[in-house]
Amino acid sequence: MKLKLKNVFLVYFLVSIAGLLYALVQLGQPCDCLPALRAAAEQLRQKDLRISQLQADLHRPPAVPAQPPEPEVLPTIYVITPTYARLVQKAELVRLSQTLSLVPRLHWLLVEDAEGPTPLVSGMLAASGLLFTHLAVLTPKAQQLREGEPGWMRPRGVEQRNGALAWLRGQGGAVGGEKDPPSPGSPGVVYFADDDNTYSRALFEEMRWTRGVSVWPVGLVGGLRFEGPRVQDGRVVGFHTAWEPTRPFPVDMAGFAVALPLLLAKPDARFDAAAPRGHLESSLLSRLVDPKDLEPRAANCTRVLVWHTRTEKPKMKQEEQLQRQGRGSDPAVEV
Ligand SMILES: *[C@@H]1O[C@H](CO)[C@@H](O)[C@H](O)[C@H]1NC(C)=O
Repeated sequence: MKLKLKNVFLVYFLVSIAGLLYALVQLGQPCDCLPALRAAAEQLRQKDLRISQLQADLHRPPAVPAQPPEPEVLPTIYVITPTYARLVQKAELVRLSQTLSLVPRLHWLLVEDAEGPTPLVSGMLAASGLLFTHLAVLTPKAQQLREGEPGWMRPRGVEQRNGALAWLRGQGGAVGGEKDPPSPGSPGVVYFADDDNTYSRALFEEMRWTRGVSVWPVGLVGGLRFEGPRVQDGRVVGFHTAWEPTRPFPVDMAGFAVALPLLLAKPDARFDAAAPRGHLESSLLSRLVDPKDLEPRAANCTRVLVWHTRTEKPKMKQEEQLQRQGRGSDPAVEV
């Protein structure tokens, strides 16, 4: 039979159209795969919601911090140390600087009894890694210890300590290190640490939060095992001392610390070089605080955390002998 090409095409065309129409109709029909898709979309939406909740939580400032305060908010401890040239000076300063290195938020005010900064002290300070201010205050001739006079005749370090107080009060004088004094109102505490005593690192945390004047015992001082405040019910009621107990403040230089705001609020409070023997500490403290308001530290003054140690003066007999022969120790080596 003869099939006309035209008819074949016509049939093919009609079948194709029918198939296409069927497919189009099927697309519009709901299919049984939809519930599964809907469930998946719903799950995605829930997850998105959770993520945006978590993001919001992340950006919300934390409520009350559970941790102890950061070191940044710790009051700075200003340690004032007078020093003078002698054979053991570097040894004393290196030992003290390495004790101070153990204490966070500490600023060392080192005051030389000299006309200007000496290379030995400048070098020691630079090597210490501490935050420091270097000052130089020469003791006036009239106050200097004369040959043969016992050490207690004239209080040592008075002008140097007062120089450091003046720097804290914005009256300048720095010859090295940090030149800017603390800004008024910044939290801090001031402690007078001679370069020969022995200090426990724990002492500095006892004094850090001093509100006015805090006190504690000092070991190996005043001819006793220790001297210190007597405390009852958390208050200072007297002092354990053998020598002149009637002094207004029978405390050693190493036995108290003063809040920086209190020192700045009393611009006249300073050490009096003319104070009678043993009254140097009282000359400052009596302008700052009433004895009954002293703040006992170190477990109500039952723990000794600082010792009034003295370094023996080294004997140089052999050195002098060699020097006479022109064979002394090399003066270029710093000791
Ligand atoms: C000091 O004494 C007071 C009063 O007796 C007491 O409440 C306080 O806990 C004591 N402090 C220390 C550190 O022992």
